[in-house]
Amino acid sequence: MKDKVKQAVQILTNGGLVAFPTETVYGLGADATNDTAVASIYAKKGRPSFNPLIAHVDNAQMAARYVKLNETAKKLMDAFWPGPLTLVLPRKSNCAVSLLASAGLDTLAVRCPKNPIALELIHQFGKPIVAPSANKSGRISPTTVGHIIDDYGDEAPFTLDGGPCQVGVESTVLLCTGEKPAVLRYGGLAVEEIEKLIGPVIRPEKDEDAPHSPGQMKSHYAPALPLRMNALAAFDGEALLGFGHAPEAVLNLSETEDLTEAAANLFSMMHQLDNAQKYTGIAVMPVPMEGLGLAINDRLKRASYKRG
Ligand code: TXA
Ligand code: MG
Repeated sequence: MKDKVKQAVQILTNGGLVAFPTETVYGLGADATNDTAVASIYAKKGRPSFNPLIAHVDNAQMAARYVKLNETAKKLMDAFWPGPLTLVLPRKSNCAVSLLASAGLDTLAVRCPKNPIALELIHQFGKPIVAPSANKSGRISPTTVGHIIDDYGDEAPFTLDGGPCQVGVESTVLLCTGEKPAVLRYGGLAVEEIEKLIGPVIRPEKDEDAPHSPGQMKSHYAPALPLRMNALAAFDGEALLGFGHAPEAVLNLSETEDLTEAAANLFSMMHQLDNAQKYTGIAVMPVPMEGLGLAINDRLKRASYKRG
């Protein structure tokens, strides 16, 4: 296993993907600080949308390099890490984790998995590893290496085999930014255990789609500026966000029409234009509806709906 972990670290360092065991389910991991590597996770999974990802750390100290810890978070980490509890916390201003991993949000999910192989991998890599469950989009989370092979066949990523996962369901996700923490996903750590330690937390409404239910958080980043899709040119005052050949573009998602590059740039470029304080809107050139283009268009659409 030592050599395998070394090999995995090498792959991550080169921007590649590695599947690894955790106590909950197998994760599909990439260097959290490498935008392009993070983009390739979505491509590999065939995910039609950019959900924010969990950054896996080997202890609270590593987490503290990237997110702001409050007293509640520290208490929870002390009690339940390593273990199936993911905490969503504010990104530090100098946070080196890819903005794509946060799907543009100003928060980052961090978790310390209770699995010796995962911990050794993160420790040797020395940086957080972002990883969604290692299944293909629309399939169930893998709890054995066999499940990964079932999903990917010959295209299976390099995988560290840790045998069957003990918990078998994903981690509990707790939003820990406000006064009162809120459950975002029920999972491997019982909420009762959490409440024993820190008192009542906000639980999601039964109706998951209730638009303004308490405890529902903004899970999608949208720029403050109005955003227009499939634009061929900018109107007066707008910034043109290019794709492909576009000499007029203020920024370009990918001049070579590379969708992985475009995904890697998406959120950081929207932020840049939004923060420039000199445009009235963002006009985005057409991005093809194929491969990662589906996820890019999905995000652009959500961002453009915002003003209703
Ligand atoms: O047990 C687990 O958590 C597994 C293993 C591999 O660690 N991972 C996992 O990742 O289930 P994924 O990507 O399938 O689910 C991550 C969940 C999603 O529901 C996502 O919306 C939420 O965490 N999440 C991640 N970052 C977030 C953020 N900044 N704000 C709100 N929710 C976030
Ligand atoms: Mg999943």
